[in-house]
Amino acid sequence: MEVRVIVVGLLWLASAQLIDEINNFERVKHKSVLSKRKYRPTYHISAPKGWLNSPAGFTFFQRQYHIFYQYHPYNGGWGHIQWGHAVSDNLVDWWHYPPAIIPREKYEWQGCLTGTALVQNNYMTVFYTGTFTEGNDTKRNQNVAISSDGIIFQKYLYNPIIKEPPTGTDFRNPTVWKNGNMWYMLCGMKNERRLAALGLYSSRDMFHWHFNGTVAQSYGDMGYMWECPDLFEIDGVHLLILSVRGIQSDGSWFTNLYQTGYMVGSFSYRTGRFNEDFEVSTATFNVLDYGHDFYATRTMLSRDGRRLMIAWLGTWESKFVESVDAWASMLTLIRELKLSEQGRLLMQPVKEIIELRSEMIEEAWYLPGEWFYTGGKAFELLINSTNTPNEVSITLEWTGGKYVIDFVSRKGSVTVNRGGNDGMRHADWNPTSSTVNMRIFVDSSSVEVFCGKGEVVFSSRIYPKGKIRVRVDGDTQVHVVQYQLRRSVRYDKRIRKHLMKNRNTLQQPLPI
Ligand SMILES: *[C@@H]1O[C@H](CO)[C@@H](O)[C@H](O)[C@H]1NC(C)=O
Ligand SMILES: *[C@@H]1O[C@H](CO)[C@@H](O)[C@H](O)[C@H]1NC(C)=O
Ligand SMILES: *[C@@H]1O[C@H](CO)[C@@H](O)[C@H](O)[C@H]1NC(C)=O
Repeated sequence: MEVRVIVVGLLWLASAQLIDEINNFERVKHKSVLSKRKYRPTYHISAPKGWLNSPAGFTFFQRQYHIFYQYHPYNGGWGHIQWGHAVSDNLVDWWHYPPAIIPREKYEWQGCLTGTALVQNNYMTVFYTGTFTEGNDTKRNQNVAISSDGIIFQKYLYNPIIKEPPTGTDFRNPTVWKNGNMWYMLCGMKNERRLAALGLYSSRDMFHWHFNGTVAQSYGDMGYMWECPDLFEIDGVHLLILSVRGIQSDGSWFTNLYQTGYMVGSFSYRTGRFNEDFEVSTATFNVLDYGHDFYATRTMLSRDGRRLMIAWLGTWESKFVESVDAWASMLTLIRELKLSEQGRLLMQPVKEIIELRSEMIEEAWYLPGEWFYTGGKAFELLINSTNTPNEVSITLEWTGGKYVIDFVSRKGSVTVNRGGNDGMRHADWNPTSSTVNMRIFVDSSSVEVFCGKGEVVFSSRIYPKGKIRVRVDGDTQVHVVQYQLRRSVRYDKRIRKHLMKNRNTLQQPLPI
């Protein structure tokens, strides 16, 4: 009985939503789509038009990878947030799809925030946070929507599935996964002292959820809100990832306003708790990426067992220089996570990334003080030293600015500096091999630096003007390989056809 009501309700919502989505997609498409505007990346996902922030969901469905992201198409700032959507066969070439989840109901009218996309019984299911204001209060709740084709989503008639948090009002970014016969959800919220907390929920059917208590919380040093939690296992170890608001900067540590990092522990599904000595504190929190612009991660397990991560190559309250052109920000390259023997997370670009290489334009040895031009603004550099140097310094420089990467062996550290008052970022690094290796990706207005086997990564926005040249410094020669990288993010014109064709074929049973 209930099932039938749900199905009918969903279908009614779906047809209205579909027309809206097609119209919206067309409207956006015809204006400045992926224009060659200044600073636009060509192989990172940015919004077709307007604002982008966190990845909202990341999954594999019907032979394709799906990335959803927080999207505001109407200008270069945050607003009534929807779920933008991009799809790929190979993790390298991405096609923009119409927005998947758009605020239209009362419970979500101010935005559909980041959550989880997952696949169950050949349906894609997404969980997201709805937000709306009532009087002077901002309310937040958790919702679900389902798709049979991975393009058109039907919102559950009985949303919200969780109407309010047990304490406080902040309540967002559900991470949902299955273990055994049970579904679990972690959600960022606040405790009675208005500090960050992580709530655990469980469900047998994905629709009815029980609150199982708080599994971790801040005692002050770990801030007032945790966003985009994620919990997964690598090599038998549980990793909890949090994007934290409110950690105080401490000298050269926690220099960014907001931090993303991980804790290592062991989570018990029997008790619904972490191991007893598990604690979220600045002492156990490991920064994931040491650059200026990295926040709000999403991960998925690929079919060949790799833990893949994507994140926002940006952060709150950054200055998005490009927003004058009515767009802002981009996502990172997709990275594979591994655990080192010392229990530290290693982050490398996925192996598929080499398919971006269009041409090798440089292969040479460079002595300290020598330099070369890059072949454009979309390139990859492989830097290798021969022996153990005391110092290796690589500077990307252009008219009026530079980005300096500096490894100093005696300090056991690597820094990047993009100039200005707050330009320096720092990480401890003792390369595990006897040589210094770096892999550097530049895409128009971003740079990602992978050190060694991924022990240290820096992701930053930069705004180069004119030609970029690379200067080598330090006390040793380095081997440099440079590849030009091709465009890989595009529009798929076939998608409109698909949408129109499927207008009347939404009547499929739901897996309830
Ligand atoms: C909302 O806030 C304003 C300004 O603080 C106050 O005057 C008003 O009474 C509040 N309204 C409600 C419904 O609480
Ligand atoms: C969570 O709560 C539900 C409902 O009270 C209960 O059946 C389940 O055992 C709890 N799970 C854990 C891990 O505590
Ligand atoms: C550079 O270092 C990487 C990582 O150790 C290695 O795979 C690669 O073969 C090296 N390349 C050169 C040219 O030495």
